[in-house]
Amino acid sequence: MSNELIGYRALVTGGTAGIGLACTRLLAQAGASVVFTGRDRRRGESVAAQLGAAQFRAADMADLDEVRAMAQEVGPVDILVNNAAYFPGSLTVDQDPAAFDTAFATNVRGAYFLVAALVPHMLAQGGGSIVNITSMVAFKGVPGASTYSASKAALESLTRSWSAEFGGSGVRVNSVAPGPTNTEGVRAEWGDTNDELGRALPLGRTAEPDEIAEAVLFLSSPRAKFITGSTLHVDGGGSAV
Ligand SMILES: NC(=O)c1ccc[n+]([C@@H]2O[C@H](COP(=O)([O-])OP(=O)(O)OC[C@H]3O[C@@H](n4cnc5c(N)ncnc54)[C@H](OP(=O)(O)O)[C@@H]3O)[C@@H](O)[C@H]2O)c1
Repeated sequence: MSNELIGYRALVTGGTAGIGLACTRLLAQAGASVVFTGRDRRRGESVAAQLGAAQFRAADMADLDEVRAMAQEVGPVDILVNNAAYFPGSLTVDQDPAAFDTAFATNVRGAYFLVAALVPHMLAQGGGSIVNITSMVAFKGVPGASTYSASKAALESLTRSWSAEFGGSGVRVNSVAPGPTNTEGVRAEWGDTNDELGRALPLGRTAEPDEIAEAVLFLSSPRAKFITGSTLHVDGGGSAV
């Protein structure tokens, strides 16, 4: 399926590490012209230099002004991957309200207003693909993940609302719901808990970022042209048990 995205322009939020970086790489390998974002400009520019085939734009998804300015600058896209997220771990009784607000500002409000800014072009051209990266824990109760899970459940709901709102103009909206995945960010925030969650899956391990990105590539591509409003669970069977 190489070159299937030649002529497509894609935006991946949070593309400097982990799952977002794998998505950026696979979309670019398929021929798309990819812009990826992150907050850390130095890391972004270094990743862009390594990839050679994608452009970096700094923006914090928790800051609405930055989201709107980035959308304006990046301009029309055919593929949007809403990947950047904040995943604070805390028991409900200990939850810091500021971290709660940052999770919803990043994971829900940022994605919402990025879509609001970019979807008019997709609607006008009669097509486009939006992939929301949610999580297995949007569907399961995990102690210490309540804020994160609730924010990802909100994004799952937006997948359904947007598929209904935009489908008449040919714009598809789907979710990829990863299970525990071996990334730097999750190791820093969740430590060994992620590996424990991986061992409890039917497939008995965590995913590698490319295994999640393959699902994103499929949903972004014309091979998925009759799929909208769906969630692809890429979780080693975790949501099945
Ligand atoms: N890893 C897992 O086990 C797992 C499981 C289920 C779902 N997911 C979901 O998969 C996605 C990626 O997770 P990951 O594990 O790959 O994360 P990661 O390794 O921490 O990478 C996160 C990426 O997002 C960027 N980012 C973080 N906050 C941002 C913000 N406010 N604005 C813009 N960019 C931001 C980071 O760059 P900067 O720090 O420079 O901003 C980085 O490029 C997230 O939506 C996460 O919820 C992950």
